[in-house]
Amino acid sequence: TSEKPWGGRFSEPTDAFVERFTASVGFDQRLYHHDITGSIAHATMLAEVGVLTDEEKLQIIEGLEAVKADIEAGKFEWSVSLEDVHMNVEARLTDRIGITGKKLHTGRSRNDQVATDIRLYLRDEIDVIAEELTRLRAGLLDLAEREADTIMPGFTHLQTAQPVTFGHHLLAWYEMLVRDADRLQDCRKRVNVMPLGAAALAGTTYPIDRTITARLLGFDRPSENSLDSVSDRDFAIEFCSFAALLMTHMSRFSEELVLWTSAQFDFIDLPDRFCTGSSIMPQKKNPDVPELVRGKTGRVNGHLVSLLTLMKSQPLAYNKDNQEDKEPLFDTIDTVKGCLKAYADMVPAITAKVDNMREAAKRGFSTATDLADYLVKKGMPFRDAHEVVGKAVAFGVAERRDLSEMTLAELQQFSDIIADDVFGVLTLEGSVQARDHLGGTAPAQVRAAVARARAALAG
Ligand code: ARG
Repeated sequence: TSEKPWGGRFSEPTDAFVERFTASVGFDQRLYHHDITGSIAHATMLAEVGVLTDEEKLQIIEGLEAVKADIEAGKFEWSVSLEDVHMNVEARLTDRIGITGKKLHTGRSRNDQVATDIRLYLRDEIDVIAEELTRLRAGLLDLAEREADTIMPGFTHLQTAQPVTFGHHLLAWYEMLVRDADRLQDCRKRVNVMPLGAAALAGTTYPIDRTITARLLGFDRPSENSLDSVSDRDFAIEFCSFAALLMTHMSRFSEELVLWTSAQFDFIDLPDRFCTGSSIMPQKKNPDVPELVRGKTGRVNGHLVSLLTLMKSQPLAYNKDNQEDKEPLFDTIDTVKGCLKAYADMVPAITAKVDNMREAAKRGFSTATDLADYLVKKGMPFRDAHEVVGKAVAFGVAERRDLSEMTLAELQQFSDIIADDVFGVLTLEGSVQARDHLGGTAPAQVRAAVARARAALAG
């Protein structure tokens, strides 16, 4: 005999190790709140269709609220022998209210229950994450506006390419986050579908009304197919895929922040409160937050692969394999929330080292393309202009001088069509201001883009 809620057909107790090995209560107890919310809705529906009396329903709801209060007061002892959060809560309910507690599970299985709990839980976490993402985006826009005129080198191959404004660079990050936020909302639509009522896999013989429970729980609709309902974890995979892409973006930002805080770049400063020192090297100020975010991207990307692999060979319908969906999903949620919080707090406090950025833009001959364009506008074919400017750059490399630091006579060695209006295009300001079209790096375009983004973010 067995003391388990399912013990009827068993003739010996569960092996002690197997009991621990198969239990999920250690990690699924965080679902308690949503488990109880789902149970209250289920009991309410059962009373509405006449499967429970109103008296029974009230007893169950009161009992569940008391169980929730116990958990929140730290007065709940989670039992591994009761396997998971669902059976722990139900057993405690029955301890409290007696026989009526045993009626709660009518027309329900842990299979549709757990799928419902995860969706309710994830829906709430998505809303929290969406808010943090909005906070980070707003901070980026403020910083981009502040740095709309700041000139830095733009890179390709991590070699100096053309001057850009720092604000423009930050808005590139911003665009990645816009897509992430869109993906998150799209994912939420498929999270917000209710599996409850599928029972173990085939539905139930009780006259349940799934539209009632769906409405009570704020789901957009009940799911269509009972077999799919208990075995579908696409929504968790989609969330993890959103998260992997978000973290991949955050990791790219991090990489740049780490580079820029190095003595070799020295483009920005991060406030001390986001950095740490070294226990041996007194001079060190390490960019730990960006490094850690970059590092945490690994586990989030890994969780996506875990879930895809978890699902790839499962036959319909529910399998115990699915219990393995929780830790990757929960860790993804925790990690993303932590990284977003750190970045939303830190980004507005980034300061640009304007002079260093400017010097770096100059050192790399970043206006060489502007000089070629100038020659083309005076009638020279682009390939010839490219050659002429290449020679001027070689001279500059040897002389350790930027194009804008050469005299007119020096420049004219390379082409006699160069006149003194050339200095207007060789300056960094002239270069960025000339790229004055939608999506371009000109300060005016950065300001306009910030204004559009703010309106979209508010709307
Ligand atoms: N702890 C289980 C899980 O996380 C709940 C569902 C268990 N269902 C079952 N038939 N054993 O998936």
